[in-house]
Amino acid sequence: MTRRLAVLGDPIDHSLSPRIHSGWIDDYSLNARYEAIRIEDGTFQSGVNELCIKGFTGFNVTLPHKHRALEFSGKSTPRAQAIGAANTLTYLNDESIWLADNTDAPGFMMALNNIIDSAALKTKTIVVLGAGGAARAVVYSLKPYADRLTLLNRTAEKAADLSHELVSGKAASGGLEYLAACIDSETILINTTSAGHNGALLPLPNRVGTLFYDISYGAAADRQLAMATELGWRTADGLSMLVGQAAASFETWFGIAPDIDRAMLRCRNK
Ligand code: ATR
Repeated sequence: MTRRLAVLGDPIDHSLSPRIHSGWIDDYSLNARYEAIRIEDGTFQSGVNELCIKGFTGFNVTLPHKHRALEFSGKSTPRAQAIGAANTLTYLNDESIWLADNTDAPGFMMALNNIIDSAALKTKTIVVLGAGGAARAVVYSLKPYADRLTLLNRTAEKAADLSHELVSGKAASGGLEYLAACIDSETILINTTSAGHNGALLPLPNRVGTLFYDISYGAAADRQLAMATELGWRTADGLSMLVGQAAASFETWFGIAPDIDRAMLRCRNK
């Protein structure tokens, strides 16, 4: 029987997930189909139940449903609970319930380890900009480095709350005005804010650190990355995190660690 999978969200038309997953399904000759399905806000549960009846057994979940997906599921992984959101649902046949997971966290780590290996990461200081939903998965995955982590947010209190909630207060925190003062030659700077999605640009200091990684990609990241490059930073966009989270979901469903580089190429050449 053909395995049916989908990404659920609203809007969903521009999602790259079908391209990523369908590519891997072809690569490994799997009998499966992956689609993008629009589910309006407020209709998540009925939408999933309907799709379950049609035989769907796995979902990626994106805005605006990530929180609802966690609440709705019969079971959830510790990381999804800690992050407070789920992006992967897997139907557990034996128990007839959905398992919620959050693969944004391992996806981010995969992306970062592709740029900086874990041994080198141990010597770096890390500054995360933003303290919203997207920051939670990033900060959760940086837990092993919490004593060299600084969280900066426009609203400083939210950064302090995030540090307490996710890394027992071990990460330093403050407002964005501390950015220049927090960076040294061993710093990795990670932007999780939604500023670029609203056409805003964060002021960045001249490069002193090693890497500016923006978890956004495409138009939402282009101007910020161009600014960082001009200021001398080595830059990377968040497409690798998107592919990383997809890879972790794919492995959950099929038990295959898929080819990340091929998916990156397919996304960049679309
Ligand atoms: P997401 O799920 O994308 O993280 P969110 O939960 O609304 O969205 O969080 C958006 C983050 O981007 C917040 O950290 C927000 O800062 P505040 O907590 O002060 O609101 C940050 N952000 C959004 N627009 C910004 C801007 N123009 N400058 C700086 N930070 C911005």
